[in-house]
Amino acid sequence: KRRVLTGITTTGTPHLGNYVGAIRPAIEASRDPNNESFYFLADLHALIKCHDPKRVQESRREIAATWLALGLDTDNSVFYRQSDIPEITELTWLLTCVCAKGLMNRAHAYKAAVQDNEAEGGADPDKGITMGLFSYPVLMAADILMFNATDVPVGRDQIQHIEMARDVAGRFNHIYKGQYFKLPEARIEESVAVLNGLDGRKMSKSYNNTIPLFVSEKKLLKLIRKIKTNSLEPGEPKNTEDCTLFQIWQAFANESQIADMRQQYENGIGWGDMKNALFELVNDHLKEPRSKYEELMNDMGYVEEVMHKGAEKARAEAGTRIDLLRKTVGFGSFV
Ligand code: TYM
Repeated sequence: KRRVLTGITTTGTPHLGNYVGAIRPAIEASRDPNNESFYFLADLHALIKCHDPKRVQESRREIAATWLALGLDTDNSVFYRQSDIPEITELTWLLTCVCAKGLMNRAHAYKAAVQDNEAEGGADPDKGITMGLFSYPVLMAADILMFNATDVPVGRDQIQHIEMARDVAGRFNHIYKGQYFKLPEARIEESVAVLNGLDGRKMSKSYNNTIPLFVSEKKLLKLIRKIKTNSLEPGEPKNTEDCTLFQIWQAFANESQIADMRQQYENGIGWGDMKNALFELVNDHLKEPRSKYEELMNDMGYVEEVMHKGAEKARAEAGTRIDLLRKTVGFGSFV
């Protein structure tokens, strides 16, 4: 059986990029009876970027309700909050102690932060680099290795982290002379590995250019109208490449709709018409889950129950594995 695992950091409102890059492929994978699925709210990771407890809590609720509204079947998957599984934090330490510091120096997120910090003279401690940021990939490795995941559906920005998880797994296996951890693989959906946002850069909470999944219809239309285009007039043929509108179209349309839109680009569809068509398409997909989402958010009792059940299932397995790993490193009982 393949083990599919992925998580979303609970610092923001889930957006179309999270959906097509991670949530949609993950939910599809969970419907395949050959897979076992582990999906979670990466709330420990959230503290790396956000020290606002209200924001963290709000985001956890939003992301939990999002997965459920989009149809995750929690009878066929394990769905949990990372912070409910203390074994993950413990495993993080065991991995930290076999992880080369030089490996972490190469992490993109850390390198980008160092650069920003230097650019600003490094004076503001809040902009400084915490140990949390530095160790971020080790925590992520623990998420994956705790459950011996084989397949990790993610967007392209996470590939390096998964390579680091493989590296750490290999080192642990080597040092303690055993096959304790399988080496996980990133599963990337190439067509949507990086969905772009309003300004044409990668859609990201950090760029403030996202289209949240469950905004009202009115807001969705407004945001889609904001997507940056070039200044070609209606009637002039347009290029589908490097076009954010077309990229989002492709992420939601079926094959014949994609072919049809390609033709319309050649025929010179106006940007206004394209935006209206895109709104209709995306809205059709999101209408039902949006109302389910609102229902769940209005009464979190059900979601909380689901999270409890998920934590129980996850801990049952994490507990057994951490016992074995404790013995492996020399923490077994004296008698
Ligand atoms: P995060 O929260 O930044 O993003 C969640 C998932 O969404 C994908 N994604 C995108 N995909 C396509 N286009 C985009 N514009 C886009 N923006 C985001 C991300 O690639 C990711 O798959 N460190 C992770 C969370 C995490 C994790 C894990 C993931 C923690 N532990 C273990 C997998 C396995 C993160 O911050 O993702």
